[in-house]
Amino acid sequence: MPRTMIEPFRIKSVEPIRMTTAQERLGMLEDAKLNVFKLRAEDVLLDWLTDSGTGAMSSAQWGAIMVGDESYAGSRSFFRLESVLKDITGMDHFIPTHQGRAAEKVLFSAVCKKGDLVPNNCHFDTTRANLEFNGVEAVDLVIPEGLQPSLIHPFKGNIDLARVEETLKKEGHRIPFGMITVTNNTGGGQPVSMANIRAYAKLLKQYGKPFIMDVCRFAENAMFIKLREDGYQDTPIKAICQELFSYADGCTMSAKKDGMVNIGGFIMLRSDEWLDPVRNMLILTEGFPTYGGLAGRDLDALAVGLEEGMEEDYLRYRLRTAEYLGEKFEAAGVGFVKPTGGHAVYIDAKTVLPDMPVEHYPAWALCNALYLEGGIRGVEIGSVMFGKRMDDGTETYHSMELVRLAFPRRMYTQSHFDFAAEVIAEVKAKASEIRGVKIVKQSKYLRHFTAELAWV
Ligand code: F0G
Repeated sequence: MPRTMIEPFRIKSVEPIRMTTAQERLGMLEDAKLNVFKLRAEDVLLDWLTDSGTGAMSSAQWGAIMVGDESYAGSRSFFRLESVLKDITGMDHFIPTHQGRAAEKVLFSAVCKKGDLVPNNCHFDTTRANLEFNGVEAVDLVIPEGLQPSLIHPFKGNIDLARVEETLKKEGHRIPFGMITVTNNTGGGQPVSMANIRAYAKLLKQYGKPFIMDVCRFAENAMFIKLREDGYQDTPIKAICQELFSYADGCTMSAKKDGMVNIGGFIMLRSDEWLDPVRNMLILTEGFPTYGGLAGRDLDALAVGLEEGMEEDYLRYRLRTAEYLGEKFEAAGVGFVKPTGGHAVYIDAKTVLPDMPVEHYPAWALCNALYLEGGIRGVEIGSVMFGKRMDDGTETYHSMELVRLAFPRRMYTQSHFDFAAEVIAEVKAKASEIRGVKIVKQSKYLRHFTAELAWV
């Protein structure tokens, strides 16, 4: 049996990508105020900014688009997706939203109040921002191993149960629900074990708190469970997903990830306790409950995508992609979060730029260097994203300086990954020439999206 793992699809439709010169890229990056979010996508060669909504849909999904029912109320597309979601999650109430952060906003503003506290392994940036916007404290309680990039652990996304219990004891009156993010995106796309989820659910139940999961990458998490957790080797992926959801009282999802679609999201709830305030908020900000900010065709594409996202051959190839690039980085002496996550590789910028002070934002600087060297667009997950300028003008910094290369689903082939490995090796060889940056303009929330920077 040949050992090479091939892409488990063939290509039916292609989209050209454009080469640029190093000099052109420097001009374009400076025009973009040294912020890759402000580049035009057509000036990027390998766009690994995000795996969110950027993947290739299958021919079956494009087919489903054509049968979408665009009725305002009670469309067939809603009921088709509802039945797929009920089957996977075992939950009865399906609330469609246009994407993940809308699900967060609708749920949090309906259920949370000022002064509340929500524990999570790590809140994604929009999750944290939506909680904070409602006056809620977002507390990250990932296990300590999850914060050490080079440490190998099979489930670095696990939540620290001892600290959860301590928080429940001390702050229980402030906690409307507990959350967990699968996979833990902010902590490196790292999975959470079924055992951890089970124990966390038990703990929350003991304290009478509902359990809400952020399930953007539930299928990738399930594949990690199958590969790494005792007792799941022979369990079909769908059954693993069903068990995972069985512990939750509700979930929010950005369907732009494991839903394999370009737009979409939802909330699922097991009980109808919160349904009225959630639906009211949905109608106010998203749309009627049977479309929630999406077209009927989007709901149909998602119904197909969710099933495709749980296919084992696809998931095996998907996780191998990140692992493959990680092996190349290892050979080049570039540090990264280990083991590689499901949807991305997170480069540890401190291993490429060990001498750059954190005030010069080394992960941001490395992100810029990848674009300048090879037209690759990644995203900084470091002190621009998670640091803060305080009211007194001082800065706080993040514990890690990472550059995430996130892979759109079913889009890039092995040679693209080989090319990227060569680019990063070049960048490492020229590390002493990489320039740090300073922030010259920023907004209060999610500043990385719009910040303007300058070379230091
Ligand atoms: N939760 C997690 C864990 C996410 O990764 C994201 C999005 C969201 C919530 C919000 O979903 O974008 O549909 O509103 N993550 C993308 C990323 C943007 O690049 O990781 P959204």
